[in-house]
Amino acid sequence: MALRDIVTDGDRILTKTCRPVEKFDEKLAKLLDDMAETLKVAEGVGLAAPQVGILRRVCIVDIGDENGLTELINPEIIDQSGHQSGAEGCLSFPNEYAVVDRPMFVTVKAQDRNGNEFTVKGEGLRARAFCHEIDHLNGVVFKDRAERMLSPEEIEKL
Ligand code: NI
Repeated sequence: MALRDIVTDGDRILTKTCRPVEKFDEKLAKLLDDMAETLKVAEGVGLAAPQVGILRRVCIVDIGDENGLTELINPEIIDQSGHQSGAEGCLSFPNEYAVVDRPMFVTVKAQDRNGNEFTVKGEGLRARAFCHEIDHLNGVVFKDRAERMLSPEEIEKL
């Protein structure tokens, strides 16, 4: 495994739409392993492939709960309900936080690293993370959805 550099705001790659994964090969496995290590070191709850410079529909989520790390290839939100409004940040925008409205519950259909389809449900922070990471695959970042940015005083209280 190896650490990958996380691109930050201003990088145009964060605005691009990612292409679907078609080959479930060693290269994909290596990308996923590297992303997992990168996420762990960065102490984030999710990471999308464009954040490490790869325009493919791949993301990972690990909010530190009993679900552990979830790898999502070609993910799609197939159901959502409820609302939550809360603070959200992104590893590509260090020290910036916004109030973002997200569904409280989502169901995501995706493929695993071997190409097998599965569905996974998320609630609360996990639902928020799924939405945030899948947005990245469509060139959308949390600031695009922000109701407002948090002030430095508010960020200190997080
Ligand atoms: Ni992000």
